[in-house]
Amino acid sequence: MHVLHVVGARPNFMKAAPVLRALRSHSSVQQTLVHTGQHYDAAMSEVFFQQLGMPEPDCNLGIGSGSHAQQTAAVMQAFESVVCARHPDMVLVYGDVNSTLAAALVCSKMGVPIAHVEAGLRSCDRGMPEEINRLLTDQLCDLLFTPSADGDQNLAREGIPANKVHCVGNVMIDSLVALFPHAQELFPKDFLSPYALVTLHRPSNVDDLPWLSDLLRTLSELSTKLNIIFPVHPRTRQRLQDLGFATNRGESRLRLLDPLPYLEFIALQSRAALVITDSGGIQEEATFLGVPCLTVRENTERPITVTLGTNQLVGRDLGKLRSAAEKIAASPVSSESSRLPDPNRIPLWDGKASERIAEILVRVFASR
Ligand code: UD1
Repeated sequence: MHVLHVVGARPNFMKAAPVLRALRSHSSVQQTLVHTGQHYDAAMSEVFFQQLGMPEPDCNLGIGSGSHAQQTAAVMQAFESVVCARHPDMVLVYGDVNSTLAAALVCSKMGVPIAHVEAGLRSCDRGMPEEINRLLTDQLCDLLFTPSADGDQNLAREGIPANKVHCVGNVMIDSLVALFPHAQELFPKDFLSPYALVTLHRPSNVDDLPWLSDLLRTLSELSTKLNIIFPVHPRTRQRLQDLGFATNRGESRLRLLDPLPYLEFIALQSRAALVITDSGGIQEEATFLGVPCLTVRENTERPITVTLGTNQLVGRDLGKLRSAAEKIAASPVSSESSRLPDPNRIPLWDGKASERIAEILVRVFASR
């Protein structure tokens, strides 16, 4: 069986890495890795390949940035030639980025079976480009691997036959389980504590400049109570520059950093008093690590992080963000220097989701 994996953006890499590894132990499987080049900075891509132990991509489509239509269309055009040349038996797509949908569209029209890793997540907010990508990708797929039971329920509601859906658990947690001990070794021992770790990159937060400015003011106020570490996504850095916000704050209590490599980020996250984010994956990692998480969004496609985990949605209420952050900062748990990840917190978030995916793929292929 020839499996072709498509990755494009930072959150894809920690999901694909364990699946590539799990499939390597099946001798009947040949693998090809395609990078669309949606993310291209070394700090957003190359360093993740190195730290996650991923092979060099067999080809890089070099798509880069653009509007949603430009990016999706460019991936489609370039990827179609790759599928024609390489004849995969199955294409694996990951998560909800534009590269995910583009590859799924190409394969569905070429009659190539597609499997979606991290299927079934729904924020029910069609204002998010990722929600459109999730809805459409799932409709096109032949196999859907969900991280939790809410994903299965969402897919059933959308009429997707149950025999295509497999609840396997969370592959991103597989990477976290595998690399957590290594990440801990990297933690800078003299790091200022306690601190909040902040990431913001969603268009709804960073492209709305008056709102971004209010958010930054709230973070500045919070930094009088605890240190704030803010690794800044390239999109966000551009917007901060548009606002005239000084980004060279390496030494202040609100520290802006360049995007961090995977291991350094996991290390910082595991020792944070709290995480403030608008990322999907970080809500899950914080839940697994037992770190309180405040999500600056009105909704989440990962509701299990709220019901079983440490996540609270603060939406667009800056008073709520400030009071929740101050409460967490003042609570005893924030003084813990390190927490241990809990493999029993969420069913199937146990570091073995990729092995389950590999076994299902091999079994399904053998039965054809
Ligand atoms: C994309 C995903 C989002 C994911 C995020 C993680 C979509 C619709 N969005 O958003 O779901 O959470 O990745 O980062 O696919 N840029 C660089 N260097 C890079 C990459 C981007 O400078 O390596 C800049 C470019 O100016 C670009 C902007 O960041 O225009 C946004 O990049 P893009 O890939 O369009 O979307 P993200 O916001 O990163």
